[in-house]
Amino acid sequence: MLKDKFVAVGVTGSIAAYKSIQLVRLLKKAGARVQVIMTKSACEFIKPLTFQVISQNPVITDMFEHPVSWEVAHVALADKADVFLVAPATANIIAKMAAGIADDMLTSTLLATKATIVTVPAMNVKMYENAITQRNIKCLRKNGIEVLEPGEGDLACGYSGKGRFPELDDIVAHIKIILGKNSDFKYKKILITAGPTREPIDPVRFITNHSSGKMGYALAEKAIQRGANTILISGPTNLKPPLGLYKYIPIETAEEMFKAVMEHYLDADVIIKSAAVADFSVKHQETEKIKKQGFNMNIELKKNPDILQELGNRKKQQVLIGFAAETTRVVSNAQDKLKRKNLDFIVVNDLAQEGAGFAGDTNIVKILHKDGWVEELPKMLKVDLANEILDRVYSYLPQNRAL
Ligand code: CTP
Repeated sequence: MLKDKFVAVGVTGSIAAYKSIQLVRLLKKAGARVQVIMTKSACEFIKPLTFQVISQNPVITDMFEHPVSWEVAHVALADKADVFLVAPATANIIAKMAAGIADDMLTSTLLATKATIVTVPAMNVKMYENAITQRNIKCLRKNGIEVLEPGEGDLACGYSGKGRFPELDDIVAHIKIILGKNSDFKYKKILITAGPTREPIDPVRFITNHSSGKMGYALAEKAIQRGANTILISGPTNLKPPLGLYKYIPIETAEEMFKAVMEHYLDADVIIKSAAVADFSVKHQETEKIKKQGFNMNIELKKNPDILQELGNRKKQQVLIGFAAETTRVVSNAQDKLKRKNLDFIVVNDLAQEGAGFAGDTNIVKILHKDGWVEELPKMLKVDLANEILDRVYSYLPQNRAL
């Protein structure tokens, strides 16, 4: 997503400037080309040479530059940038940006760029909460400039509260989302289900499975990055919903997942059912905790609705993708599900293989297409597999189908 994209990073005079060094490293690692532009006070905290080494690009500052060369450099940077980060952003730069002041290299470049600007505030909590700063932030947002929410906690100034530089991974994820907005799933609505479902027995016990939700969350993350309006319907997991979701719907039971899916499937372009839905739930759920004394040791189960089957029955324009986890007759079982549930393709885990399945970060799958084509994919990270799956989904979208 970030590969070969040009990210301009404006660094201003906050103690959090040192965190931008790591931020630039992460952007470079993700394949971006980065050029840093520093204000005079930023140079009091960090030497430009540090950013030059990390970004592998000359750093633009106000110091020691011949006017003609910096004039050219800043206009070029304004034009080249795919996205323009101001990180960290002090109350001062936010005020200047809101007022349209251009009295140094950074503010002049910001006024000249057409790239999306993302401002990452980092300052003392009182400065952040000051009504004037808040008014300026509102003004930036009104003018299409993004301002990320700062984190909360201990601040370098000794105070505690809102004003911390946000988590670096969140900033990088946000940039990926912005860049993804121009890409292949723009204007598409993707519905993804993830995680296990949890079927209560009594107020303290439940039936569930080993699904971690990692595959579904990776799919949601990548779908967002590729520009899709993404709805994630998820059973209980330990994962943080990815930034940039159109909607996040947490559910517990298969019945609740069924309802949520049925509410949202109609205008979806793509539905990916990566959730491990419990096939059974308890017929007579106890309202009080079951005591071992006197319990007859039998729990009567009933079948849950098969959500994917129902979607297959109702399917119209939607590209419909299922998952299957098998331990025997892997291909033939999955082929049967593919046909029975009217899917475009099904992604099959062979649970017997090392590196495949629920909890890990990798997966080994086969993809069975409705025309009989069987693809065997090598072991790969779930985040990479998510992109592979979305590449295939893309080719099934109505406008991309071969005639
Ligand atoms: N699925 C679903 N609703 C269910 C059960 C499964 O939507 N009640 C979906 C899963 O999200 C997955 C696919 O169906 O995409 C296959 O799930 P799996 O449990 O492997 O298959 P089942 O149809 O339950 O068949 P079996 O239990 O015979 O393996």
